[in-house]
Amino acid sequence: MEFTAIACNLLAQKTDCLVIALEQDGVDNPALQSIDRATGGLVSRLRASGDIKNTVGSSLLINEPTGLAAKRLLILGSGEKTANEQSFLALTTGLANKLTKLPIQSACISINHLQVEHRDNVWQAQQLARKLVEASYLFNPFKSKEKKITSLKKVTLATPSRKGLNVLKNTLNTGKAIANGVNLARELGDLPGNICTPSYLASQAKKLAKKHVKLSCKVLSEKQMKTLGMGALLSVTAGTIEPAKMIVLEYMGGKSGDKPIVLVGKGVTFDSGGISLKPGGAMDEMKYDMCGAASVLGTFSTLIEAGLPINVVGIISAVENMPSGTATKPGDIVKSMSGQTIEVLNTDAEGRLILCDALTYAGRYKPKSIIDIATLTGACVMALGSHASGILSNNDALAAQLETAGQTSGDRIWRLPLWNEYDKQLKSNFADMANIGGRPAGTITAACFLGRFTKDYKWAHLDIAGTAWNSGGNKGATGRPVPLLTQYLLEQAGL
Ligand code: BES
Ligand code: MN
Ligand code: ZN
Repeated sequence: MEFTAIACNLLAQKTDCLVIALEQDGVDNPALQSIDRATGGLVSRLRASGDIKNTVGSSLLINEPTGLAAKRLLILGSGEKTANEQSFLALTTGLANKLTKLPIQSACISINHLQVEHRDNVWQAQQLARKLVEASYLFNPFKSKEKKITSLKKVTLATPSRKGLNVLKNTLNTGKAIANGVNLARELGDLPGNICTPSYLASQAKKLAKKHVKLSCKVLSEKQMKTLGMGALLSVTAGTIEPAKMIVLEYMGGKSGDKPIVLVGKGVTFDSGGISLKPGGAMDEMKYDMCGAASVLGTFSTLIEAGLPINVVGIISAVENMPSGTATKPGDIVKSMSGQTIEVLNTDAEGRLILCDALTYAGRYKPKSIIDIATLTGACVMALGSHASGILSNNDALAAQLETAGQTSGDRIWRLPLWNEYDKQLKSNFADMANIGGRPAGTITAACFLGRFTKDYKWAHLDIAGTAWNSGGNKGATGRPVPLLTQYLLEQAGL
């Protein structure tokens, strides 16, 4: 999909579909007025008859409108004159879903005069491009009869003035780069566990690194991890024949001396629970337990496509968690790379075991900050549902920056505390700590566990168990938190 921005006469625009917003006070909009005049008052009549309303979610498609050069006119109800971010995002998502399903190759969209609280038209344009590319995502490699992909190839954003056209064009392409990252994360998430193994994730990371000179990738084998002393990570892979991989991506887009931001992703390509086996219902969804890893790969895809001037390192712990005669047992004690010992009281609390060694490994980069991303706890789904990811951090400034990025991108997060009182729940009678802290505050004790390995850094943990995929009829990966992470990195890069 190609994007451009122009200042043009909408009536003369040759396009497969002209999109115009109908606001609460639509009469004020000169573009709508001129279209109404050109079509002999069609818009006014449709409003009067109630065929088109100005509420968000309503729209009307008119084929071969007289008086316009466009083949179709889509009138889009856009609600209140001043929207907030979430309602604007709902509007653009609805529009994107509609446009990508029409048999059209081009569209010209005139909604850039809308007002969104605290957000300018550059932000609006970026979100619009994002939503259009996200709506074109289709996952059908295993359907015998392929569903057709969208025919929409060229999207033109029409703006009232020539001022700032280049900025708009750039932001449209940034939005596209973010959405391509989101779609990569969704695809990796949607792939089944028998295809998307740790080795597959490693091959995808290598493939990504081939696309850009400033991106390199190395993959540590189990043997190398053993030499490094990653006993916690290796205890999780003990029950499977799929080899575990530690994937390391280095993107040096910034100044060579600048310390990198490190992203650490949980990549459990299937989480059966191990010997502490999960119940059978919806167990298939545990193929999504690598969505943290997928979001790291998606973010790197955006980094290279947008060429951000910033240094970022990605570390992905990729393993499969299975029960077998060689699997780790409840009560087993393992030694992490940091030297701290862990009593594995529940083999289903495996995410923290693979992350703690990756967090220790990250220390060699002297990171500016570390963010780990993980589908870590069912408790987070109970606490925040699918609307916000959980964030826990040992640094208020970092947490605030991420919260702001979440608000800007619409990929929102909510902070939970990391108090010492919670940390005490991890006490073990036999080792330095247990890998579980009991039922109360499961999301927090999981983060406290990770916090014991990140004391030397500015660190934030994102629990995406509730946000990384949709369940039920709409089952599928969401690509979150790629929009949040890329927005944070854009801001860190000063863009
Ligand atoms: N991958 C799961 C967390 C999860 C559960 C994500 C449901 C999304 C939906 C994680 O490895 C896990 O099993 N966590 C346990 C921890 C418990 C044993 C302390 C959980 O949340 O039940
Ligand atoms: Mn688990
Ligand atoms: Zn898990």
